[in-house]
Amino acid sequence: MPLPAALLATACNAPAAETPGVTVAQGTLESGGGMVVSAYPHASRAGAEVLRAGGNAVDAAIATGFALAVTHPAAGNIGGGGFMVIRFPDGSSTVMDFREKAPLRAHPEMFLDESGEYSYRIHHRSHLAVGVPGTVAGFAQAHEKYGSAAWTGLVEPAVALARDGFEVSERLAGSLAGRLEAFRDYPATFAQFFRDGEPYAPGDTLVQADLAATLERIRDHGRDGFYAGETARLLAEEMERGGGWITEEDLARYQAVEREPVRGTYRGYDIISMAPPSSGGTALVEMLNVLEGFDVAAMGANSPAHAHHLIEAMRRAFRDRAAHLADPDFSDVPVARLTSKAYAAEIRATIKADAASVSDPDDVAGAPGWESSETTHYSVVDADGLAVSVTYTLEGGYGSYITVPGAGFLLNNEMGDFNARPGLTTDRGLIGTEPNLARPEQRMLSSMTPTILARDGELVAVVGSPGGRTIINTVLQIVVNVVDFGMSPADAVAAKRLHHQWLPDAARLEDGYMSEDDAAVLTAMGHQISWSGRQGIAHCIFTGEGGVLVGVPDPRDSDGTAAGY
Ligand code: GLY
Repeated sequence: MPLPAALLATACNAPAAETPGVTVAQGTLESGGGMVVSAYPHASRAGAEVLRAGGNAVDAAIATGFALAVTHPAAGNIGGGGFMVIRFPDGSSTVMDFREKAPLRAHPEMFLDESGEYSYRIHHRSHLAVGVPGTVAGFAQAHEKYGSAAWTGLVEPAVALARDGFEVSERLAGSLAGRLEAFRDYPATFAQFFRDGEPYAPGDTLVQADLAATLERIRDHGRDGFYAGETARLLAEEMERGGGWITEEDLARYQAVEREPVRGTYRGYDIISMAPPSSGGTALVEMLNVLEGFDVAAMGANSPAHAHHLIEAMRRAFRDRAAHLADPDFSDVPVARLTSKAYAAEIRATIKADAASVSDPDDVAGAPGWESSETTHYSVVDADGLAVSVTYTLEGGYGSYITVPGAGFLLNNEMGDFNARPGLTTDRGLIGTEPNLARPEQRMLSSMTPTILARDGELVAVVGSPGGRTIINTVLQIVVNVVDFGMSPADAVAAKRLHHQWLPDAARLEDGYMSEDDAAVLTAMGHQISWSGRQGIAHCIFTGEGGVLVGVPDPRDSDGTAAGY
């Protein structure tokens, strides 16, 4: 039931800004109405204003996503793809898959150079690294099926932000300034994000006129404003110019897909998460099932025992990820088995209480390497309890670095999420397993894990994060923090995290995860550990006391913002 529109902004990093009826806070925000938490203030505000005007959470998610394409160019996008998990007030759920696809000309050996050697540059930073974008098709399909407000009103806030400009934050200014040299090789990108060749300063206004024109075409023509006509022509021309393979035919053929979510349970909580072609939901449920058989609460948060059991569950789920996970339209992915309690019991029996296992690369034909951490997650809940969890991406920060000239949007480099080459395995973590090789119109494997938690028919939380393969483990640890350790929403998100992905056989702990003495206990068990500055940016919403919505921007992101009414 919607509560009175009482609002309380707490723990703010910056003063709350007011627009009529909508409160925006760069800290935890409580709201009796609707709530959006995303990676940029203007985007959260755009979504919350749609909610306040009577739109539902799907409408608000679309408005937020388009606004992020303007204000968060490192990961917000119309030139990339992603996933949307939706839980309806009656407890039913669905997912929208708008992951990019390989173009029609793709083949498993497309990332080899003229001498037949695997080329990282071709795989990750070339026109061949660009997948057929899915975001606009995904938003259009979600709107057609589940939206309630007029489409034009969901795109218009983004049009205005691109056309009139928006205030550059300190973090965005720093991020763009750091690309000064890298973007020089990409003239359209350099022109869009530098003014007279100089970086924008915090507080400057960034105007993106070509992007505004593209968004106007999307506003006026829906998916055809992107996949046909002027936008498609400009994109195909840039591909031809740069040696890429995406044609107007590829764009016209692209379709988003509605799929069944991956569902599981953890100590009485319902887990609703993303299905393949993401590995996220499957690996998350597999790991939770494994942990369910241990008394995690008794171990204590971030203790050596807790860390050890997390790492051992991660090791096994990521090995299965490498062996089995891929686009379900191209291979049989054994989701039911991997997410079954019986399989988890088999896995659990292989975990020793106080000694690390060893990851064996011969276990499958390849091993996954570390992955880029640029993606973005946002969460939306409306006053009726409709909940939407969206993670979408360009893959690397600013994707391929290629802006479509005249159209003003960055293209993804998502083809890098396909395996590099058939059979290629290196101890640095390249993978050559069959299911996730590039093929015409196949979707590349993802780790994105937009997730929703419920219990006894009530919404508990909307969760997700950027971070490549760390995403799955970030979401896992937030769930465990809530369920096993009873942490408050803010503590569950702020708590330090760790990551292990089978290979390389080493755990990466956020600085401050545990004391040096505890780390010594972990290494004495046989774990290799290293320390990292930050893992993930989980912009989440929880249901708090009395049903109030608690928006929690991850404190790891200075631009993370909750907006509600
Ligand atoms: N590109 C990040 C992911 O899909 O997992």
